[in-house]
Amino acid sequence: MAREQRKLDHVRLALTGEPVEISDFDDIQIVHRSFPETKLQDCRIDSSIGGLPFSSPIFINAMTGGADATKRINRALAEVARETGVGLAVGSQSAGLQDPDLEDTYRIVRQTNPNGIIIANLSAASPPEQVKRAVDMIEADLLQLHINVPQEMIMPEGDRDFTGILANVEKVTAELNVPVIVKEVGFGMCRETYRQLIDRGVSIVDVGGSGGTNFISIENRRRKRQEFDFLSGWGQSTAVSLLEATLCHELEFVASGGIRHSLDMIKCMILGARAVGVAGPILRLLEKEGVSGVVDAIQNWHEQIRTLMTILGTPSIDSLREVPVVVTGRTKDWCEVRQID
Ligand code: FNR
Repeated sequence: MAREQRKLDHVRLALTGEPVEISDFDDIQIVHRSFPETKLQDCRIDSSIGGLPFSSPIFINAMTGGADATKRINRALAEVARETGVGLAVGSQSAGLQDPDLEDTYRIVRQTNPNGIIIANLSAASPPEQVKRAVDMIEADLLQLHINVPQEMIMPEGDRDFTGILANVEKVTAELNVPVIVKEVGFGMCRETYRQLIDRGVSIVDVGGSGGTNFISIENRRRKRQEFDFLSGWGQSTAVSLLEATLCHELEFVASGGIRHSLDMIKCMILGARAVGVAGPILRLLEKEGVSGVVDAIQNWHEQIRTLMTILGTPSIDSLREVPVVVTGRTKDWCEVRQID
């Protein structure tokens, strides 16, 4: 019951979160060149993650499931995914593993979108047999293992022991027969983390940077006394997390956290991401404008991405990586201190 309430709290508090106004993406300036030598018709937005074809580089990132009222949201998100061809991750499936009555709240996404790309989600501390059950529950094409230490620590009922997680990630990655994405939930990553993951055989990472939905603030608002306000700026932004990845050629990158519009998406892909995940903004749009409003927004993003690719002279998602950028402001300061070129 407490768990179901937490799922509902997360949705309610994410819905009342403020949209992001300024972001480190504004420190990334794209260099305009005058002769793109491309045509709109030739610009293709398909991508791939872990060898699986994605018809769009956008996916709906992990949010919910695990409480009866969240089934409605997952059904709506799956309708959006079916209509637009984007991938969809479900929220953490631990509730469904512990209570078979709640499996439905996740299964609904596969029932609604039988042929789409569906991504399972569990904590990176979950043992391989649980992870396999979560993947089977929704016939998932990929799996996200989320890592969210600051959130757990601020969550009154959260975990307090984070030992052995890297070893578990290594085991799960080796044993699973679908691609595994290790995902932060809004605190970002750094090159030291990437190195640790590479050493454990991980090949796909969702940098999950700060700048968007903030789970320190959300958990802080669930506490009796909101004494963790001072931590609300914790972690690396999505832009910084991608810049930290510059030398990690062994990994495939997915970007999420604080992505506001198609220009942020393009910047993520210039900085090396193969796909971009959006969560909170989609939930808020769904609440306000329903399935058709979200479908329209995603279709607009697709067209805008193709427009930007034409302007940039980059007919494929991969070729975006060749586009030069200038980094300014505090993001530039970060790069200088961390010696990122
Ligand atoms: C989330 N997120 C999340 N992530 C995860 O791996 N497992 C989960 O169960 C959840 N649950 C969840 C609930 C709600 C209501 C929201 C809004 C988000 C985190 C999400 O996938 C993403 O990493 C962050 O929200 C940052 O992206 P945005 O919201 O800034 O686009």
